[in-house]
Amino acid sequence: MYRPLGITVSRHIMDLQRMHPEATGDLSGLLNELIVAAKTISAEVNMAGLADVLGMSGKTNIQGEEVQKLDEFSNNTIKKRMARCGYVCVMTSEEEDDIIPVSEGYEGKYTLAFDPLDGSSNIDVNVSIGTIFSIHRRKSDDGEPSFGRRSTDSGDEWQSAGDEGGSAEDLLQKGSRQVAAGYIIYGSSTMLVFTTGEGVHGFTLDPSVGEFYLSHPDIKIPGKSKYFSVNEGNYTYWDENMRRYIDYLKEQDLEGGRPYSSRYIGSLVADFHRNLISGGIFLYPKDNKNPAKPSGKLRLLYEAAPLAFVVEQAGGRAITGDGRDILEIEPQELHQRVPLIIGCRYDVDEAEDFLSGKR
Ligand code: AHG
Ligand code: MN
Ligand code: MN
Repeated sequence: MYRPLGITVSRHIMDLQRMHPEATGDLSGLLNELIVAAKTISAEVNMAGLADVLGMSGKTNIQGEEVQKLDEFSNNTIKKRMARCGYVCVMTSEEEDDIIPVSEGYEGKYTLAFDPLDGSSNIDVNVSIGTIFSIHRRKSDDGEPSFGRRSTDSGDEWQSAGDEGGSAEDLLQKGSRQVAAGYIIYGSSTMLVFTTGEGVHGFTLDPSVGEFYLSHPDIKIPGKSKYFSVNEGNYTYWDENMRRYIDYLKEQDLEGGRPYSSRYIGSLVADFHRNLISGGIFLYPKDNKNPAKPSGKLRLLYEAAPLAFVVEQAGGRAITGDGRDILEIEPQELHQRVPLIIGCRYDVDEAEDFLSGKR
């Protein structure tokens, strides 16, 4: 049940915490720290046209992609703040080759995977970009409630679960084990959209106050779409089933609501957010364009899995197109790429039938 708007995100997080009497506030604390980092990035992104943050930093990351100055700023902002928040034991970022340890004495019981700035190619042309995050409980913590701490062997007194730093193993967990995930989109307004497994809620930043206010309570993605989002420039590199599916969406069948409209902006967060609110299916399938990236371009830990958690909580679905649900994939390495088909359940089911050759 949602009270009238005007609820800040910190209040919303406290309300969620109150639903878990055993909660001690670790996850609340983590989310609130992450939100401070997001506000810092938002202020910088909104000044990008004026301050000297546009353009390339002159470095390339593990993905072999040129790192934009705002990528670097966003990455450092999150890394520095979360390394000393006391709720995280280890992190991974799209911009960092290896795991990011937290500061000694600040080890917490959660892990954080993040894409500090998604849609980098759009930074200099003033198109919406975003930050994506995914939170797990560290493996050494045996599944206590999201807002709680690990109980010790001797009964029910509580101790902080993370006395030592975490490892890659703590990060390499299935998406279905996430305790929270979401994104911030820096667009016409800055919005935070996230889930802790109890629905999806959207908050809009009032920059004059510096507060995120509940603007989209309990978001549900429409059951069926009228938009498809895909980079058709890759058509020639797709397999036959993928081509057949996109051709099908473009055929005229007014009864069936086809042809669909095409919307593709090249920022996953922006394409995903539009589809979440208005309905749509986004596809970044495997292709044979680049032998080094046979599974498509997007990364599992900090792009596909967090958005899959959000979309499933909103009533949608996320698959790879080769028979796997995104949330059930056991990650093998930090920057693992996966094909991503995500959006309205009806459309993802239909796409799966085409991609598996059933249709
Ligand atoms: P990032 O900027 O974090 O590297 O992500 C870019 C991704 C994603 O945002 C978007 O959907 C995709 O790249 C666009 O890729 P193409 O330009 O190949 O379509
Ligand atoms: Mn990205
Ligand atoms: Mn990025």
